[in-house]
Amino acid sequence: MECRRLVGRAAELSRLTRLLEPRGLRAVPVMVGPSGIGKTTLARAAARRLSDEGLDAYYIPVLTRATDPAALFRELAASTEAWRSGLSSDAARALVARTLEKLLGSGWEQRLPSLAARLQREGLGLVRGLLEELAKSSGRGVVVVIDEAQNLLQGLGLSDLWGFLKLLADLQENPPAGKEFHALLVTSDYSFQLRLYQEAPSPDYLETFYLGEMTREDAERLLDECDSYPRPEHLDLVGGHPVHLRRYAAMGLEGVCSEVRKYRQWLAALRPEERRAAVEVLALLAEKPLPIEEVGYEARGPLEALVRGGVLQYGCSSYLGVYRWNPECREGRRLACGGGGVCGGLDVIAPAHRVARIAVAVAVGREELVAEATRLLAGCEAA
Ligand SMILES: Nc1ncnc2c1ncn2[C@@H]1O[C@H](COP(=O)(O)OP(=O)(O)O)[C@@H](O)[C@H]1O
Ligand SMILES: [Mg+2]
Repeated sequence: MECRRLVGRAAELSRLTRLLEPRGLRAVPVMVGPSGIGKTTLARAAARRLSDEGLDAYYIPVLTRATDPAALFRELAASTEAWRSGLSSDAARALVARTLEKLLGSGWEQRLPSLAARLQREGLGLVRGLLEELAKSSGRGVVVVIDEAQNLLQGLGLSDLWGFLKLLADLQENPPAGKEFHALLVTSDYSFQLRLYQEAPSPDYLETFYLGEMTREDAERLLDECDSYPRPEHLDLVGGHPVHLRRYAAMGLEGVCSEVRKYRQWLAALRPEERRAAVEVLALLAEKPLPIEEVGYEARGPLEALVRGGVLQYGCSSYLGVYRWNPECREGRRLACGGGGVCGGLDVIAPAHRVARIAVAVAVGREELVAEATRLLAGCEAA
């Protein structure tokens, strides 16, 4: 069942919204976190909230890996959503299409094949033109959320991350027509995030917002409000990862068992020499997150592959969860409560979620390191 409305995440929403209020700073916020943790849901909610504060908020999902710029521009025109007073989503898309028409000439969609070379050559400039036009046509200013931002760059055929970041930072520092401008990049692709940092003109061009597990109260609320299933018996087994939580609520233990089997297969698929290098680290990861700088050179490649496969993640230790619940934001507790916020940089490698953590422990024969694992496996075998 789809649950598009934001449930819980109050602290995360207010932190993200604050980060996105235009302040004329160059730092471009990048939201990262494991797949299915709720980045898209939170980013759309922040955009909506900023529109309540009088900004025009655009949400631009680039959900498919467009293989050429023509397909990319078609997708931009078709999928953009906006929150702007007096503008429906259809009207917002029409506005984006009109703006592209202004930049590319009338009938651009029909002429795409003949525009291919130009799109390839000037792709980044056209994206800039589009963002400038949106800002100019706004009242106070715009906030632009680009979801799965790695696909935008790939669609433009661009290796020029430096130019892309510079473009966004310039617009933030010197917004067109004196309007306010702020961007948010959202990505679940860690290698993209890493490249952003490697290729940024300097580290002050980026600000990482990490999204980790929901708190226990938010997890309970999510199940109550989005699913009509009875509350799962072992909430602590699955933790605050929305997708896994709902899968478990819907399928019961079998949902968890099939995930454990899948991740074990992933780990078994590593080549023997990769396995050897990774096993030592994985045994540690079953117990606690590991600072990235402590990962030895040989283990890096195989661990990278497990990150790409969604078994592991790079995370921010303050908001990770996975090993224990993130603290609720009660009783005036402000610092590092909730499950996400600005993070100086991703500092640890860890399982992507608690089910992956069990699979990791089992795969390296260290079930005893995860209290729930033995009982769970007995349940899986009985099933
Ligand atoms: N705070 C939330 N409230 C309601 N549903 C949520 C929340 N977080 C995640 N979900 C649900 O979990 C699923 C995955 O969330 P999504 O935002 O797409 O994750 P991501 O973008 O990080 O991959 C979606 O179906 C969404 O409905
Ligand atoms: Mg998403």
